[in-house]
Amino acid sequence: MRGLKGKVAALTGGGSGIGRAAALRLGEEGCRMAVIDRNEAAANKTADEIRAAGGIALAITADVAIEAEIAAAFMRVIEAYGCLDILVANAGIFSAERDGKVHTVDKSVWDEIVGVNLTGMFLTCKHGVTAMRATANGGAVVITGSPTGIFGVTPQSVAYSSSKGGVHGLARVMAVDYAPDGIRVNVVVPGFTLSPIVHELVADPAVYEPLVRSIPLRRGAQPEELAGAIAFLASDDASYMTGSLMFVDGGMTAV
Ligand SMILES: NC(=O)c1ccc[n+]([C@@H]2O[C@H](COP(=O)([O-])OP(=O)(O)OC[C@H]3O[C@@H](n4cnc5c(N)ncnc54)[C@H](O)[C@@H]3O)[C@@H](O)[C@H]2O)c1
Repeated sequence: MRGLKGKVAALTGGGSGIGRAAALRLGEEGCRMAVIDRNEAAANKTADEIRAAGGIALAITADVAIEAEIAAAFMRVIEAYGCLDILVANAGIFSAERDGKVHTVDKSVWDEIVGVNLTGMFLTCKHGVTAMRATANGGAVVITGSPTGIFGVTPQSVAYSSSKGGVHGLARVMAVDYAPDGIRVNVVVPGFTLSPIVHELVADPAVYEPLVRSIPLRRGAQPEELAGAIAFLASDDASYMTGSLMFVDGGMTAV
């Protein structure tokens, strides 16, 4: 893809699933990677995999929901690479067991899920965009959204769905606010993707089988199938895209 080689890219949630696959793909495309995750061992493993494939990578341990940690993470990116061109705000959590219908959800569960998925995205973008504006000439932000932020496709997930609806709003207004700075902001919208986050859904045949039957392509995505879309949105091939939602969902939301 055009315009990725030599760029500096920071990605949250890079230790697993979609983030790991996107970090490997951006590393393969020649980006100098900062793999940020609250799971230190997982971030290190992804960075090791990028280096083993011939790329350049740094692992940073930070919790996106803690402002001091995520602010320090971007300072490390600038210390290590001197600039930030690409930000992938991707870290997120989901809990089928603890989330639920609105009258059942404990406020502590709401606070935790919204705290990571929405406040954490805000903090990631706040400090990531600050780093980008201070050091680069424009840039690209890719934010991981969800069909649950638009449609009621995952019942009994009120905290998760609300957090993702908020993320789409964050991305759209950022796209307008930073267009004059040459910073593009887009959302990748993964459908049902076979990563550890959905292990509860995969483990329950009463949920998994109807879910897969509801997807026109009749299967979940592999994380690598999201990685290509993320790399595309980050690249100069998407130079006229900003404020978009790109659905990579096997047709889930087309029906
Ligand atoms: N898998 C799906 O079906 C699906 C569908 C739609 C959207 N998404 C979104 O995709 C994104 C990536 O999810 P995934 O499927 O790769 O899940 P995953 O569980 O495989 O990976 C999430 C990663 O984020 C990290 N993380 C979680 N909380 C964090 C925090 N507070 N600070 C830093 N790192 C943190 C985890 O340690 C993990 O490495 C999430 O935003 C998720 O909501 C996933």
